[in-house]
Amino acid sequence: MSIERVNLLATSNKKINGCIKVPGDKSISHRAIIISSIADGRTEINNYLNAADVNATINACRAIGAAIEESKDTLIIDGNNLERHHGDAIDLNFGNSGTSMRLMMGILSAQKFSSVLIGDESLNERPMDRVSNPLLRMNADIKTSDGKPPVYINPVPSIKCIDHTVDIASAQIKSSIMLAGLYGENAFTITTPQSRDHTEIMLSQFGCNISINSHSIKMEPCKPISPEFIQIPGDISSAAFFIVGSIISKNSQIIIENVGLNPLRTGLIEILRMMGANIHITNIKTVNGEMIGNIHAESSLLNGIEIPKELIASSIDELPLIVLAASQANGKTAIRNAEELRVKESDRILSMIKMMDAFKIETDEFPDGMNVYGGSIKGARVSSFGDHRIAMTALMASLVSDSDILVEDCKNIDTSFPTFIEIANNICMDINKND
Ligand code: S3P
Repeated sequence: MSIERVNLLATSNKKINGCIKVPGDKSISHRAIIISSIADGRTEINNYLNAADVNATINACRAIGAAIEESKDTLIIDGNNLERHHGDAIDLNFGNSGTSMRLMMGILSAQKFSSVLIGDESLNERPMDRVSNPLLRMNADIKTSDGKPPVYINPVPSIKCIDHTVDIASAQIKSSIMLAGLYGENAFTITTPQSRDHTEIMLSQFGCNISINSHSIKMEPCKPISPEFIQIPGDISSAAFFIVGSIISKNSQIIIENVGLNPLRTGLIEILRMMGANIHITNIKTVNGEMIGNIHAESSLLNGIEIPKELIASSIDELPLIVLAASQANGKTAIRNAEELRVKESDRILSMIKMMDAFKIETDEFPDGMNVYGGSIKGARVSSFGDHRIAMTALMASLVSDSDILVEDCKNIDTSFPTFIEIANNICMDINKND
């Protein structure tokens, strides 16, 4: 079911039961498409995420000369062998996708055509200077509009590889630098706090020589980039909705098969286990350098905790769900050091404070996080704040609410998880359009 600009109504007090698969990982899909597009030959990508955000990346990769054929959940990509593509100046609209825009800023900085990068209302408010500033140091001709989109990029004679120190734990910043660096001539090092390492893993899969330790990445020149066959794991950030749903609701049990379990993405599982959740993992294997496995989760009694600082980066996209889980825990849960939530698809600290308020759950707001006090969720009409993860989190709250939950403007669910409603309803939830 595809979702237009609609409100969704979720019936309260359901349980979930079943064995499901979730669509391909969004972060890994972006990387697989971008790196195939600059490889020397043909790559087949299976189980890519066919959703609006990833389609924005496909569109931008076509603009640099990659030939991309789509069929259901497979892509065949003929890359351009790191050719610096010539062409007319273009405007590229990245919709809601921050990852597409930021990663492609690195690639577009090295092309021989000018580009103007814009997004939707939400993306046009998000910081882009965190990426343009390091690219400027690499000789790129790149300009933002007061730090935000539109981003203007013009051709330069060459890209310079230099060492960088990045203070923010952001995979998008380091990835953009790494991708731009592929067009330079020499080795360089990025020193940065740990964040998801899918770009490093994917580049290694394509034959690039990268050495990684916990806080630095050394890239050697890499040409040609050799094509690969890529199988994308299920997205743990999508699985997360059903993991938390099964844990907070009574008599629930879920198995989610073939989910990506990269340790820099599994903070949610570690945090929920610390809170007392019953989660176990089976069938662990490694595919294309990424760990995958089956996740089993079931109804659990939760206790409030202080979320360790070290688990923030690896759970950053799942923190709205941690807030929902915390609302069902005994006592107080404290989330801090999460100021990055303020610059996601919405200000996710404020969005969750307002959602919990509508649900009559007590919270305290801080600049870098919040406290959540366990209680009983009252059914309510809430906003999605134009944010896919906030919309889906609110719908999962219906599992424990005393009456139905109506979530306004859920079109954004399509950006990352177009089959969310279908899967949710297949495992006994009841979510429907409501005008
Ligand atoms: C992503 C990195 C994270 C994450 C985003 C996806 C990626 O953002 O929140 O949803 O695929 O690189 P930051 O790099 O801003 O931390």
